[in-house]
Amino acid sequence: MDRKKLKEKLLKIGDLATLPVVAYNVMQLTQNPKASAMDVGKAISQDPALTSKVLKIANSAFYGFPRKISTINNAIVILGFSNIRNIVLSAGIIDAHKGRKSSQYFDRTDFWKHSLACGIASKIIASTVGLKNSEEAFIWGLLHDLGKIVMDTYIHEEFSQIAQHAKLKGILIVDAEQKYLGFDHTDVGSLVAKKWNMPPALIKVIRYHHNPVLDYNSLRISSIVHLADILCRTLKLGCGGDNEIPIINEISWDLMNLNKQMLEQISFKIEEDYESATAFL
Ligand SMILES: [Fe+2]
Ligand SMILES: [Fe+2]
Repeated sequence: MDRKKLKEKLLKIGDLATLPVVAYNVMQLTQNPKASAMDVGKAISQDPALTSKVLKIANSAFYGFPRKISTINNAIVILGFSNIRNIVLSAGIIDAHKGRKSSQYFDRTDFWKHSLACGIASKIIASTVGLKNSEEAFIWGLLHDLGKIVMDTYIHEEFSQIAQHAKLKGILIVDAEQKYLGFDHTDVGSLVAKKWNMPPALIKVIRYHHNPVLDYNSLRISSIVHLADILCRTLKLGCGGDNEIPIINEISWDLMNLNKQMLEQISFKIEEDYESATAFL
């Protein structure tokens, strides 16, 4: 396919992907310093199904709050803006992509498990390397492979073949995508995230998590998600569509300044937190 056609195809996939209005509004509000907890609460309450899911997650073992959180406003006050944004976005995006059966080579449940594990891992790595607002890193990891679920939804047959090829040949799915389509899930995901007005940091990690050194301006954040992805593959938490474990980029590794013992602690904590996070799915 020539470049023009490739671009057209990519843009077409991007056009199809939609984010539920309520999730979109909440994301905008939580990025707006002038918005109050009341505004955010009101926006969430527009959607009763989302409201009950948010409360379920807020009360789950993952956040470990000792008393029952019974209203959205309470949840916002107790868990804070960034956590609420994380919950609403994950619930909204997971729901938006429900309703299609998994294909033989791309299991949607395993995909979300991989995503959730990466969210948890990114947050733990971010706080270990001393990143400010490490809660935000959860959403970077959770959505780093957004492009895959979008492709599985909108070009299902092709994507099934790609996943089959990756698994049978023992290669990374990102390489199989390039081979079949001439673009990959980082292109699709970042395009969709831009269209949805996602925070710039999130767009970058979606775009650069397989090749963090291309992200000169925020190498650190892309490196965090790059490592999170590799660790979750090593720990076999879910599956993002292939069974490979890529080698970590050397510059990223040096930049994070971690040692073997820290890595072991991080891995332990990922497994522990993952156990308590099932309410997300
Ligand atoms: Fe990826
Ligand atoms: Fe991944």
